[in-house]
Amino acid sequence: MSFVMRKRDFLSIADFSSNELTELLNRARRLKVGEDHSQLTGKSLAMIFRKSSTRTRISFEVGMTQLGGHALFISDHDSQIGRGEPIHDTAKVLSRYVDGIMIRTFGHEEVEELSRHSSVPVINGLTDLLHPCQVVADLQTVAEEFGPNYPERTVAWIGDGNNMANSWLNAAYRLGFSVRLACPEGYDPDPSIFKRAGKMADILLTRDPFEAVQGADVVTTDVWASMGQEEEARERMGAFAGFSVDDALMEQAIPEAMFLHCLPAHRGEEVSSSVIDGTQSRIFNEAENRLHAQKAILLELLG
Ligand code: CP
Ligand code: NVA
Repeated sequence: MSFVMRKRDFLSIADFSSNELTELLNRARRLKVGEDHSQLTGKSLAMIFRKSSTRTRISFEVGMTQLGGHALFISDHDSQIGRGEPIHDTAKVLSRYVDGIMIRTFGHEEVEELSRHSSVPVINGLTDLLHPCQVVADLQTVAEEFGPNYPERTVAWIGDGNNMANSWLNAAYRLGFSVRLACPEGYDPDPSIFKRAGKMADILLTRDPFEAVQGADVVTTDVWASMGQEEEARERMGAFAGFSVDDALMEQAIPEAMFLHCLPAHRGEEVSSSVIDGTQSRIFNEAENRLHAQKAILLELLG
């Protein structure tokens, strides 16, 4: 009798069940404290970057090295992808060389297409729709502060209903914590992701940042113009006026609330310097946790 092992992808937080996500977060914690010594000896990860990156590139590359494997950086500019080689051909070619593919790109459909045509696991390193790897690191950071009892927590999202907001909603869908989003009109999260999260968790969408942060444990935001939206930056500055996370806003959250930001940040725009550099900010723990979270994801998929 023979059977085919199905490859496992990580395109969205929702690809993992609640138990799998909990196990992934446990593994990230164990990796951080040196209790998990699993290896990916001799394995290779191709990393396709069609947008810039500091944390995602470095955490995946260092993560693979620490696990005894190897990562290859592939950009648009110096590979045939930038010259228009179809993504389905790239998927099939890379699958003959490497054990996994991580991709950061614009349209989410491109990652889905890559996944359909590759025979090795595909990891979403950010699309216009989702940024799941970042939110795994964020969830790890939340547990470090408040423990792993996610359903007891309330997360306030202030600003753009972007890839980060959508991934927080997917995390709430799986882990059952409350999300209170304050987004200006026209910048809401993806409607189907929002609706699905609302079936499993307490989700609020308001136009008032002060309403969103009332009693929140976690206050988080992101840039007003994401990668690929540079031309809208001016218009967005106007639309997001009043959506900065500053001290007055933080005071509405619980006194022990933490501030998170995936980075890079624009101080003085979506967040004041006093908040991002203040005592409630956990941004560098959050950035560090990218490494542990990435290693956990790599071990689950490539191990
Ligand atoms: N937060 C994050 O994904 O950072 P990079 O864009 O630097 O990878
Ligand atoms: N929303 C941001 C996240 C960067 C890590 C972007 O997509 O540019």
